[in-house]
Amino acid sequence: MIVQKTIIENPKIHSRNLNFYYGDVQALFDINLQLPDKLVTALIGPSGCGKSTFLRTLNRMNDIIDGTRVEGKVTIDDKDIYDKHVDVVKLRKRVGMVFQKSNPFPKSIFDNIAYGPKIHGTKSKEELALIVEKSLKEALLWDEVKDRLHVSGLSLSGGQQQRLCIARALAVNPEILLMDEPTSALDPRATAGIEELIRELAGSYTIVIVTHNMQQAARVSDYTAFFYEGKLIEYDKTKKLFTTPAEKQTEDYITGRFG
Ligand SMILES: Nc1ncnc2c1ncn2[C@@H]1O[C@H](COP(=O)(O)OP(=O)(O)OP(=O)(O)O)[C@@H](O)[C@H]1O
Ligand SMILES: [Mg+2]
Repeated sequence: MIVQKTIIENPKIHSRNLNFYYGDVQALFDINLQLPDKLVTALIGPSGCGKSTFLRTLNRMNDIIDGTRVEGKVTIDDKDIYDKHVDVVKLRKRVGMVFQKSNPFPKSIFDNIAYGPKIHGTKSKEELALIVEKSLKEALLWDEVKDRLHVSGLSLSGGQQQRLCIARALAVNPEILLMDEPTSALDPRATAGIEELIRELAGSYTIVIVTHNMQQAARVSDYTAFFYEGKLIEYDKTKKLFTTPAEKQTEDYITGRFG
């Protein structure tokens, strides 16, 4: 199998010979992938192929799962994030994450967003209010909630809750946003809202999104990586990968022949 090498100039994230194990079970095999700065990369592939596992290696979220082991390297801005001197809390501030199921804290909209900045040391009320406004505006949610910042985040619609979670991630000034199937629980209209938001945020943030939806990958991403059984099969510009894939397995998957 030939892994097509798309060389990205000055990649923001670079995984080299990355292997990942849950106990004795190997979930990622020798992943070499360079992800571009301030663009959107989609990770696609059938269930169980390692998309979420790979995503979680990028901010060491796998560390919290017992019995896991990483081999190889992941660098962000050329610095090894698995180096023993890395402060994982700081790493996760730089590399924010949004999940499949929106998970606002059972707190007000305001407090959902102020929470992270507070933990990282912002105390002034005025400053927090500015961060809340800026983050909600960036997440294209401000106009819908500006008059009710003190109602519970859980009172929002699904799509609004997901944008709230994105605003919460943005509030601590990340450089990278990881999104694991961020729209799979949403209706088409809310999904369109999140996709629009992802395009807005590209250019300012490096975004990595896992999706089962081919159309979504084609719509929102600049580059796409196709995984199969823990291996990276093909990686290329999204347009290229979806129109003229180099590998038969990629073609079979994107044309819906399996997965
Ligand atoms: N916490 C875990 N403990 C043990 N094995 C796991 C764990 N999480 C995932 N795996 C295994 O690792 C492999 C890759 O799983 P992963 O969740 O990364 O796949 P995925 O591509 O995200 O799938 P899906 O599209 O269903 O979300 C699978 O075989 C899975 O069973
Ligand atoms: Mg997954």
